[in-house]
Amino acid sequence: MSDTKHIQSMVSNGIMSLRINRPDKKNALNLAMYQAFADGLREADRDDAVRVIVICGGTDCFTSGNDLADFLGAPPTGPESPVMQFLLAISETRKPVIAAVNGLAVGVGVTMLLHCDLVYAGSGATFQMPFVNLALCPEAGSTLLLPRIMGHQRAAELLLLGEPFGAEKAHNVGIVTEVCPDDTVLETAEKRAAQLVKQPAAALRLTKSLLKRDYAAPLRETIIEEGAQFMARLKSPEAAEALQAFMERRKPDFSRFT
Ligand code: COA
Repeated sequence: MSDTKHIQSMVSNGIMSLRINRPDKKNALNLAMYQAFADGLREADRDDAVRVIVICGGTDCFTSGNDLADFLGAPPTGPESPVMQFLLAISETRKPVIAAVNGLAVGVGVTMLLHCDLVYAGSGATFQMPFVNLALCPEAGSTLLLPRIMGHQRAAELLLLGEPFGAEKAHNVGIVTEVCPDDTVLETAEKRAAQLVKQPAAALRLTKSLLKRDYAAPLRETIIEEGAQFMARLKSPEAAEALQAFMERRKPDFSRFT
């Protein structure tokens, strides 16, 4: 099992816990973390001792999304890249996945939730999908899943404006199952996981696969197509300006680009 400093995995009582743990960088996900995450999910799917997967971050940050320095220094280049492996793994996991979200969830920190079955968020959690703000495009199958979950207009608002939104809104639009007091999020997720462990595993897996039956194939296709577009956008001068601006702690200026 892959267990790294920044993605900690543990199996206990039928539950695999995957904890994102890179607090000094707001839990930003780098290449090694995506790979460890993907390996953990694939391992959970294979291992009969695992019946449920729980994903969490820290108490003040779930994840600030992809490591922006990696976008500049080690961008993904194809379907074999760790980020694509992670996205395919989380979207194809046959076992139930529960997320516990405290604090910030940015970028892939939100879009990975669309692949989870139960999502518990603290009342103080903040969500944001700033792909367009970075001159990029959405990923993780979110252009298929968001409109399906909430309708086109609400999905367009979240993606085109890329503004932060709170836990109540995330619940209202259907990204979050339940909003909890901040200090009970992980406990709630673990309680639900323990409940699922007692359910008949084959019936759980079958129900999950039936829930996704009509969109599993287009979802994979969308993840791959979005990934290709995203990688092309990363090479654009607009994205270079956005990423440079983040590094220099200034606002990007897109006025010279048409
Ligand atoms: N990638 C790389 N480093 C990141 C990061 C990311 N996604 N998010 C935060 N960090 C780093 C910061 O560079 C900083 O590092 P430093 O202390 O070495 O300078 C550290 O984490 C703390 O972040 P900081 O920006 O000081 O914290 P904050 O509380 O003021 O703001 C965020 C937190 C998440 C709102 C802000 O860091 C941010 O907007 N990050 C980028 C999010 C993003 O665009 N993700 C990708 C979406 S596709």
